[in-house]
Amino acid sequence: MNGDVKIYVAGHRGLAGSALVRRLRAKGHENLVLRTHAELDLLDPAAVRRFFAAERPEYVLLAAAKVGGILANDTHPAEFIQQNLAIQTNVIHEAWRAGVKRLLLLGSSCIYPRECPQPMKEEYLLTGPLESTNRAYAVAKIAGIEMCRSYNRQYGTHFVAVMPTNLFGPGDNYDLESSHVLPALIRKAHEAKQRGDKQMLVWGSGNPRREFLYSDDMADACVFLLALPEERFAELVARDALPLVNIGAGKDLTIAELAGLIAEIVGFDGRFVYDTTKPDGTLRKVLDVSRLAALGWKPQIGLRKAVALAYEDFVTSHYTSV
Ligand SMILES: NC(=O)c1ccc[n+]([C@@H]2O[C@H](COP(=O)([O-])OP(=O)(O)OC[C@H]3O[C@@H](n4cnc5c(N)ncnc54)[C@H](OP(=O)(O)O)[C@@H]3O)[C@@H](O)[C@H]2O)c1
Repeated sequence: MNGDVKIYVAGHRGLAGSALVRRLRAKGHENLVLRTHAELDLLDPAAVRRFFAAERPEYVLLAAAKVGGILANDTHPAEFIQQNLAIQTNVIHEAWRAGVKRLLLLGSSCIYPRECPQPMKEEYLLTGPLESTNRAYAVAKIAGIEMCRSYNRQYGTHFVAVMPTNLFGPGDNYDLESSHVLPALIRKAHEAKQRGDKQMLVWGSGNPRREFLYSDDMADACVFLLALPEERFAELVARDALPLVNIGAGKDLTIAELAGLIAEIVGFDGRFVYDTTKPDGTLRKVLDVSRLAALGWKPQIGLRKAVALAYEDFVTSHYTSV
C-alpha cells in the first residue's frame, strides 16, 4: 500500500480511530480523509452518499460506532441497534458504490456467544445465545459482518470485519461510572497513591481472566491487514469465506494480576480489597488469534509497557499539575 493512497478513517477522534490515525501517519500515510461527527453524520444516508461521491477514498477504516458500557447498552438498546446498523449500512453501501478497494469494519468480541468455548475462534460466530445486556449492539455488529460477506459474495468487494479484544490507550475513558476495568484500575491506583491509602477496592473476586490490547497495537494490526498482499487478502474475502479476523493479545490474565501490574507501574504499594458484591461476569474471555498470527502479525507492545504508556497519558491528560 503506497504512502499516498487515500484512506478514510471514520470515527477518527475515538479511542480506536485516533490510534488508527496515529499508526497510519507513523507509516507515512498523509492522504487521510477525516470528518468529525459534526461535519458528517454517518446516520444520514444522503450525506454519506455525497461524501463518498466527492472524496472517493480507496481504503476505509470504519471505527465510528455508538459504543458504551453495560449500563448504557442495557438502558438504550434501541439506540445501539439503530445507530450501529445505520452507520454500517450507509458506509458499507456507499463504499461499494464508490469502488473502495478495501474496507475494515471494527466490531467487538461481544459478537461471540455468551457461553463460547475459550479461546474464541472466528468460526464460533452464531453458534449460541448472546449475552443479553449488549445483545442489540452485538446483533448490529454481526449484521455488519454479514454485510461484508454478502457484498463480497455478490459484488466481489474486499470488505473484512475485525474484532478487537478489550482496548486501552491514549484518550481512554477514565470516568469510574462508565469506564472499562483497566482504565478504572489506573485511576483508582493513582488516586489511592495520592491519598496515601493503605488499601484499594477492586470490583469482583479478582479471579476472572481477561485479555487487553493497547490501541496502537490494534491499529498496527488493522494497517497490517489493510496492506496485505493481494493474494492473502483475497483469501479473507473469498466467496465462501467468513471475512472475520480477531485482533487480540493472544494472552489473558486475572483481574488480580492486572491490578498488581497496575499498582506496580503507578507506585501504589497498599493492598487490594475485593468487593465480591460486584459481579464477576464470565470467568474467562479471550480471543483465539491464530488466524491473524498465521497471516504474520503479532502485538509489538507488551502489556507492561502499554500500561506504563497509558498511565503516562492518564497523568498528562488528567493531572498535569502532578
Ligand atoms: N474500546 C474498546 O475497548 C473496543 C474494543 C473492541 C472493539 N472496539 C470497537 O471499535 C469501534 C470504535 O470504538 P471506540 O472505543 O473507539 O469508540 P469511541 O471512542 O466512542 O469512538 C467512536 C467514534 O465514532 C464517532 N461516531 C459515533 N456516531 C457517529 C455518527 N453518527 N457519525 C459520525 N461519527 C460518529 C464518535 O464521534 P462522537 O464522539 O463525536 O459522537 C467517535 O469519534 C467500535 O466498533 C467498537 O466496537 C472498541
